[in-house]
Order: sequence, then structure tokens, then C-alpha cells
Amino acid sequence: MNLQVLKLDFEKLYGKPAEAVFFSPGRVNLVGEHTDYNGGYVFPCALSYGTYLLVRKNNEHLLRFASANLDRREDVAPDKIGQPLEGDAWMNYPLGVMDQFKKKGINVEGLDLFYSGNIPNGAGLSSSASIELVTAVMVNDLFGGNLPMMEMVKMSQDAENQFVGVNCGIMDQFAVGMGKKDHALALKCDTLEWHAVPLKLDGYKIIISNTNKRRGLADSKYNERRSECEQALKELNKEGRYQTLSDIDFDTFNKIYERLSSEVLLRRARHVITENQRVLDAMKALENDNIQEFGQLMNASHVSLRDDYEVTGPELDALVEEAWKTEGVIGSRMTGAGFGGCTVSLVREDKVDNFINQVGPAYEKRTGLKPLFYIADVGDGARRLE
Ligand code: GLA
Repeated sequence: MNLQVLKLDFEKLYGKPAEAVFFSPGRVNLVGEHTDYNGGYVFPCALSYGTYLLVRKNNEHLLRFASANLDRREDVAPDKIGQPLEGDAWMNYPLGVMDQFKKKGINVEGLDLFYSGNIPNGAGLSSSASIELVTAVMVNDLFGGNLPMMEMVKMSQDAENQFVGVNCGIMDQFAVGMGKKDHALALKCDTLEWHAVPLKLDGYKIIISNTNKRRGLADSKYNERRSECEQALKELNKEGRYQTLSDIDFDTFNKIYERLSSEVLLRRARHVITENQRVLDAMKALENDNIQEFGQLMNASHVSLRDDYEVTGPELDALVEEAWKTEGVIGSRMTGAGFGGCTVSLVREDKVDNFINQVGPAYEKRTGLKPLFYIADVGDGARRLE
């Protein structure tokens, strides 16, 4: 992404130079999937790809939205911030965030805004959380919000839940907001306790592979999984002892699983409970420089997401299976919500080219889709650049 070019584009669009530049990354989750809305553990990291936001204040009392990636442009009066735009409007992400600020008495005035992202769209690498957080740090900076990042993380999640209507957990906004270069973030999603763990991947690279399958039914299936988990908790929680599925450890689960009314609910709950343990084990493995074990846990996570949680699908499974067959791969799994999007693999540095050359054509042969590969560079969270 060339910032000079973006600045010229901004000037062409608005006739005056940008006054400030902000950046917010995308994220990849290493392990701990579909645990966040169950109060469990996640282990994501922020990427060096993300969303740039160039901005200047205007005196015309208008929020002018433009993007380098999408054609739709809109001018919105600041007093209309609380009303989502019709159709598939990308501005609803920033508008939702501005609405959260407004609710806190921090009002946005006229702005010329130009967003530009290099996160592949719809790939499950949190381009939406990235747009939310880049907007949040901008509003906070230019309108004297003085809010801590964690507050903006929660506001961005609320914006997505209430304004955009996707019932996501907190992982994406957290990773994008709090990311730390060369670290993964260990977060417990109910207490929001967290710490950064150095990514000592000596000799290995994190490779993101994009199935290029659009995540069509993802949102409705996502919400379906959420309600299955709520139902499972209700049935397991006879004594009212547990706040979330993550309060139940595996031994206890083995004693009480017969309370569940269906085999489907059993598998959903089992995924969440075993996945939490995998995250804890994976963090320990990383701290002990045991990358092999980390990789094994990633593989086990995929199997659980495939068989118990059923959120993978033929494309993600094909991409992961081809990775598992390839020399130098110590772990590979789907990442994000599933049903399409990306996988994440740990690949020996000197085998990365071989990985791409082998997995690419094999996947294409099986699915008819061309995958894309990115080497993940782990970066910092949302911030002002200039
Ligand atoms: C999506 C959601 C997250 C999380 C993941 C699955 O990315 O936005 O909150 O639930 O799916 O782990």
C-alpha cells in the first residue's frame, strides 16, 4: 500500500490534502475458534495488512465517505449518524461506530473520509472490524474522546451487533485494536483478561491460504451456532452454576453430557469445551518453544470444527487436507467463522514456496477454485500514523 498515492487520491477527491492518517490491521486467529461468544479463550494476532483512513475536517457539516475498494460513496449529515443506510452499505460500519461515540456524548462534525484496505474482502480476516477500529481511533483522536483502546474495542463490537446486525463475539475487534507486533494475544473472552505471548516461530512462517469461496450462508449459520450453544448451556446448567459453556471443564462435561437433548448439541458443546483446552495447551507449547505440539493442536482444532462444530465445508477441508500432506507443514486449520474464508498454516521457512506450488494446484483440482496465499506478518493494533 503506497501512502503517497493514497494522499494524492485524497486530494483529487476532495480538492485539499488529508490532515491525518490512521491505520488498523486485519487479524488471523491461530487457535480458539467459536469460543469467544462462549466466554472462552482465543489466540489471535494482528496482521500488517489492514485499512488506512485519510481524513480532514470540513466546515460543511457533512460526513463524506469514499473508499478505494468500493464504488459506493455517500454524504451523511452528522445528525443522521444513528440511521443505517439501506442496502449493502459499507459506511454502516463507520456510522455504527460514530453512533457509539455519539451515545457517549462525543459528537462527530463534518469530515472528508477516504478508506483504503488491503485485506482481501470476505476472506474472514476481519476487514469489517478493521474499518470499525480505524474509525474509532480517528474519532477518538480528532474529537477529544480520550477513550482507552479496550473501550473502543467494545464499542466497535456493539456497533457490529446493533447497527450492522452481525452477532459476533469480541475476538476480531480485540485483536485488531490491541494487536502487538510479533505477538499473539491470549484473551479470556468473559473476563477480558489478556496477555501478549511472543511468537517465537523459529524457522517457521504463518501462511494464510484463502479458499476464495464466498462466505455465503456464513451469517445465518453463525447465528445458528450461537443459539445452539445457548441451548446446550441451558440444558447442562441444571443447577444454574455456569455463566457460559467455558465454565465447564472436560471432566465435568463427561459427567453431565447426558443432560443434553440431542447429539448435535453434544457435539457443539464438546467443541467449545475441548477447544478451550487446546488454546491453553497451545499457549503453553509456544512458551515452551514446542512448535510441533502447537501445530498438532491446530490440526486437532480443525478436526473438531469439522466434525463437532460443522463449520468447515468442502473447500476449507480440501485446503487443510492438502496442507497436511505437504512436507514442512506442522499445523493447518480453518480460521475465523468458517464456511469459506481462510486457513492458517505453520510452514517451515524453506518449504514455503513448495507449499504454495503443491497445495495451490491440488486444491484447485479438487474444488475448481484458485486459492491465494499470504505470508502473515504480525503487526501492531489500530493507531494514528501521521
Ligand atoms: C467471526 C466472529 C468472531 C468469532 C469467530 C469464530 O470471526 O466475528 O467473533 O466468533 O468468527 O471464532
